[in-house]
Amino acid sequence: MLLTGTEGLKALTTAYENGHALPGFVAYNLETVQAIVAAAEATPGSAVLLQAGSSPFKHAGREPLMRLALDAAAHSSAPLGVHLDHSRDLEEITACLKAGYTSVMVDGSHLPFAENIALTREAVRRARDHGAWVEAELGALAGDEDISTNANASTTAMTDPSQAAEFVAETNVDALAVAVGNVHGFTTTPVHLDLARLASIYSAVPIPLVLHGASGLPEQQLLGALSRGVAKVNVNAELRRAYLQAVNTQLPTALPGSDAVSIWSAGRDAVTEAATRIITQLTPRS
Ligand code: 13P
Repeated sequence: MLLTGTEGLKALTTAYENGHALPGFVAYNLETVQAIVAAAEATPGSAVLLQAGSSPFKHAGREPLMRLALDAAAHSSAPLGVHLDHSRDLEEITACLKAGYTSVMVDGSHLPFAENIALTREAVRRARDHGAWVEAELGALAGDEDISTNANASTTAMTDPSQAAEFVAETNVDALAVAVGNVHGFTTTPVHLDLARLASIYSAVPIPLVLHGASGLPEQQLLGALSRGVAKVNVNAELRRAYLQAVNTQLPTALPGSDAVSIWSAGRDAVTEAATRIITQLTPRS
């Protein structure tokens, strides 16, 4: 089922209060949308965010990917939110809100503080008209959203806790993505989150925090983040890698018969498996 904005925000708040997190999985195409939905169905009780766009719109086209994700969520037995990830564009945000997205991320992290506030405020105003919730970002992550570039965490503009408090009060945003040493994509040396900074942000800010760049993060770091206010965790590269490795394995068998279906199926199954494992990691163990 496709969550409403109110239901999605309730799931996020419940996760926040219980020290667990909703996964935000990035989808690019039919197979990755189906895999994320299948993983949500394999883990009953966990709400999952299907992040369709903004960057994947460059590959799939906005309208087709938007429709695909909303339709897959609506026809699933699992609770799914459809979320717009990293959008800098109010026109794009409005289009997704009108189509029925549960939530949007407005990314003003590249802007000066006052401009980030202004952009975020406007996104919040538009989202409220559609009953959706909003994630914003303060501080800026290193790395690329679609390719692992072995980004260097030292180039991250870290989130300042007191600025974060001011930002949230000024914008009335529902969730805040933070930069605490996390990077997009895989890195050759393990990432070390600044958990002390994260704890300060958690104390200063009264809303759920979001951790981008969770692919390849050591489990102890992830658990440390969950106990410091992180209630949404974004994963993309781990799913891309699972897809590509499965395709690589299947290719020699598929190539002689031009058997593309077996390639797409292998990729989809691998993404389902990876996403299921991550959902389980983010859900509290009793
Ligand atoms: P990774 O690049 O670490 O998979 O993170 C994805 C992400 O943060 C999407 O917004």
